[in-house]
Amino acid sequence: MKTILTGIRANSVLTLGNYLGALLPMVRLSNKYSKDYNVNIFVPDLHSIISDVDGDLKENTIRTLKYYLAAGLEINENVHIYRQSRVPAHSELCWILNCVATMGELNRMTQYKEKSDGKASCNVGIFDYPVLMAADILLYSATYVPLGEDQFQHIELTRNIAERFNHKFGEVFIIPAETKEQVEFMGVEKPIRIRDLVNPEKKMSKSTASENSKIMLDDEPFKAAKKVMSATTDSFVEVQFDFEKRPGISNLLYIEALITDTPLDEVVKKWQGTTRYGELKKQVANSVSEMLVEFQKRLAEISDKQVLELFEFGEKYANEVANQKLIEVQKAFNLR
Ligand code: TYM
Repeated sequence: MKTILTGIRANSVLTLGNYLGALLPMVRLSNKYSKDYNVNIFVPDLHSIISDVDGDLKENTIRTLKYYLAAGLEINENVHIYRQSRVPAHSELCWILNCVATMGELNRMTQYKEKSDGKASCNVGIFDYPVLMAADILLYSATYVPLGEDQFQHIELTRNIAERFNHKFGEVFIIPAETKEQVEFMGVEKPIRIRDLVNPEKKMSKSTASENSKIMLDDEPFKAAKKVMSATTDSFVEVQFDFEKRPGISNLLYIEALITDTPLDEVVKKWQGTTRYGELKKQVANSVSEMLVEFQKRLAEISDKQVLELFEFGEKYANEVANQKLIEVQKAFNLR
């Protein structure tokens, strides 16, 4: 059986960008394919500690996994939910892959450049982060890794490390699908990037200081709707979908398509060429606030106990699969 795998860090409450770029696509894919695929959803808590965590990491981890359930994830015996730190093989394989990855390729990672930019010094974890991510993926032979656009570079790196390893030691790793196939599998044309509402040149990010720039999953729905209504668009007369020249309005069209699970073409066709900017904003504000009402209601109904039970099942499975792969790798390196 092929494997679909993804992870979201639990450093704080998530944004609408996390939700639409990674969480909701994973839930939809899992519900569609989990009869025939393994589905692994985990919280990379070891990735979390490269930077500050708002609140208690253990509690955030549980909350993050509740988000998947609140977004409609259906559970069956092929769906595995676990914490990275409870599967020691991740860190072990990370070390081994450190001896395969090169400084040059890690130096080129955009996320490292951004996070270390202007700092006199940063922790080694920030630099090594993508190697741990490669270990997360390769241990489970994952083919599909639904992610937002900012993380796609790490899939390419994972593929390169795995190919280099296999070339030297034989076919130990399954190579994850390349970007084009990943986005096709997600049912989109391009990797998803939800933009900042105030400055739509940038991606929506939890670390942006301005509150109006981002919608958080715990925002009061009416407040989130207000943020959409005040989003930066453009001063043209007609609505056009064009992320290059009209990032603000295009972002709203894209959000509408993803939330309502409508093909983007259809949403664009409805609004393109019209002058109904205000009406479009109202529509998106409505969709976002309705989504939040429903999501927050379901979230409140999920108990910690439910998630802890899922961990018990998922972590047993994850340790079995990961340890088996780790032994193969250790043998290839003559450690065993
Ligand atoms: P993280 O926690 O930074 O982000 C979680 C997911 O949310 C997506 N995302 C967005 N997508 C679209 N638009 C946005 N504005 C936006 N902001 C965030 C991210 O692309 C990501 O998919 N390295 C990962 C966690 C990780 C992982 C893994 C993922 C660790 N190991 C193995 C998959 C497989 C990360 O930091 O994501």
